[in-house]
Amino acid sequence: MSVIHIIKGDEPLASPSLPLLYNLVYCSRATAGVDDAAVDRILESAKRFNPAHGITGLLVFGSGIFFQWIEGPRENVARLMTMIHADPRHESIVLLSEFEEMRERLFPDWDMELVAAADIRDVLVDAKNDAEDEKNAAVLTLLIEQLDSGQLSELSRA
Ligand SMILES: Cc1cc2nc3c(=O)[nH]c(=O)nc-3n(C[C@H](O)[C@H](O)[C@H](O)COP(=O)(O)O)c2cc1C
Repeated sequence: MSVIHIIKGDEPLASPSLPLLYNLVYCSRATAGVDDAAVDRILESAKRFNPAHGITGLLVFGSGIFFQWIEGPRENVARLMTMIHADPRHESIVLLSEFEEMRERLFPDWDMELVAAADIRDVLVDAKNDAEDEKNAAVLTLLIEQLDSGQLSELSRA
């Protein structure tokens, strides 16, 4: 499965009180037969694995496209991503961004929340408006720009 690096982020910055989080954002195409019930099963797996491994994030599914934001300790995110890569329920994974930094979680209460494609922009804008951490606001600005500039065009059309 090919992975295209579009954006490569910053080196981790030092900060005494914030957790070091590895952030990974990708898009992929669902394979034939993947429907809402299949997505529910993915979320069931996520609700088992993610909280036990300090992983939070969101998953968008619309027009046969997945978009996922994953944040957590580097090793655990890498382990999850190996599992996700091998998953036959999707293909053509495109890595949109990947970086590690010390900051608050963007979605602290979401083990892996499913967001409807039509709502993704609102979710990102709300999270940006609520972000107390400057770095979070910057990441969200980047994602909104990617969405608006058509890099995530399948999602914005959904
Ligand atoms: C688009 C997509 C997103 C996924 N996200 C997660 C996730 O956040 N957490 C997780 O544990 N599994 C996720 N999975 C499922 C894993 O690839 C894998 O099937 C699962 O972890 C296996 O666990 P299980 O044996 O408990 O079902 C995802 C799969 C796909 C296709």
